Amino acid sequence: MDKFIIEGGANLKGRIKIAGAKNGSLALMPATLLASGTYHLKNTPNLRDVWTMSRLMGELGAFCELNGNDLFIDTTKADKTIAPYEQVKKMRASFYVLGPLLARWGEAKVSLPGGCAWGPRPVDLHLKGMKKLGAEISVENGYVIAKAKSPNGKLKGGHIHLDVSSVGASGNILMAATLAEGITTITNAALEPEITALGRFLQDMGAKISGLGTSTIEIEGVDELHPADVTTIPDRIEAATYLIAAAMTGGHIELQNVNPYHLAAVIDKLEESGCELDINSDTISLKMDKSPKPTNVTTAIYPGFPTDVQAQWMSYMMLANGSSHVVDNIYYDRFKHAPELSRLGADVDVVDNAAIVTGGKALSGATVMSSDLRASASLVLAGLAAKGETEVLRIYHLDRGYEAMEEKLTKLGANIQRLKTELI
Ligand code: EPZ
Repeated sequence: MDKFIIEGGANLKGRIKIAGAKNGSLALMPATLLASGTYHLKNTPNLRDVWTMSRLMGELGAFCELNGNDLFIDTTKADKTIAPYEQVKKMRASFYVLGPLLARWGEAKVSLPGGCAWGPRPVDLHLKGMKKLGAEISVENGYVIAKAKSPNGKLKGGHIHLDVSSVGASGNILMAATLAEGITTITNAALEPEITALGRFLQDMGAKISGLGTSTIEIEGVDELHPADVTTIPDRIEAATYLIAAAMTGGHIELQNVNPYHLAAVIDKLEESGCELDINSDTISLKMDKSPKPTNVTTAIYPGFPTDVQAQWMSYMMLANGSSHVVDNIYYDRFKHAPELSRLGADVDVVDNAAIVTGGKALSGATVMSSDLRASASLVLAGLAAKGETEVLRIYHLDRGYEAMEEKLTKLGANIQRLKTELI
């Protein structure tokens, strides 16, 4: 198992290119199960979650080949409808295959996603949506058994209101509705750019969809779809992570291949904290030469401040002279990083879904343990800003969602190494 050794104190400087969006690819890949043929998914991030999804799709008969950042998928032999626990337990997004399988084959057997480092993360809205599309749903032995009720095995369009504008449920229902008979309307649908991009890809595959990017999406089912190629949107969460890394190290960096529009809430808070930002159509530069001002954030659905940047922001606020409030309204207990950050000398007090971060004390390097993807990113950032050496253990969490992090940080002047360890 790998760990990072970080010698803190370097000011990050230079340019890096942001990869394609992990959460974008994880939605696009299952969509290819909706039509037989070959696909080219460009700008695909080369990271563990994409490999995991490729293995799951392999179980379903698809062939996935990732060549650098070019993902080629062949679904001509993808005729299986069982997504086994062994694969699904590794990654919650595996549940995205339910909609495409049910819509294409009229049946699916998909393992329920396993536990997560934080929260209950139910899939009730996904199942509610499939039922509204005319599927019979039962849960047996840890598996969701789904079957289209109509004799021709086709789903039927309907109106689905999402109590919570779930990203995953919106994507799953959107994919399922493309081959359903009649019109489907999703209200309170997710606005996240990854879902809008999924919708556009489905349109390129021949789907009839309107209202993308709004909370009401309408889908007119078609008999069949066809393959298409797609370029994955830039990863706004990876971009936010590097912007905060620069802000925490008195740095001056430029990110290339970003969509600043997708980062409006984060950019706003970075400016409020005292950073200088220069924004162009597909680049963002950040310069920071002072301690940040205490800046409160409250996470929200897009275009609000992303919960996937909450941990990194907490790390950043440890450097501010004074107290900041970090509130997570999406996941109430996504604070596993707080006690680990305290090991570097931070003063973080978590009550329910809110943390009070009192900063201003110099951070000192320590050994810290990753618990999940974004928590591990916050520990790396703290290590970059701390005096001395920090060891970040269990970075397999990080590898799930960041492509070549140590290479990118080294390119920006950080002193970071990846070491293999026998430690569990
Ligand atoms: C997506 O997860 C992202 N994952 C997450 O990013 C991200 O944190 C999350 O959206 C919120 O932005 C991917 O895109 C693969 P949700 P998802 O369904 O789809 C509740 C990362 O770090 N809910 O929008 O699982 C749920 O409990 C990951 O890259 C239900 O109640 O999130 C949560 O409180 C972590 N019932 C809220 O909705 C449901 O059926 C938002 O969840 C589904 C969700």
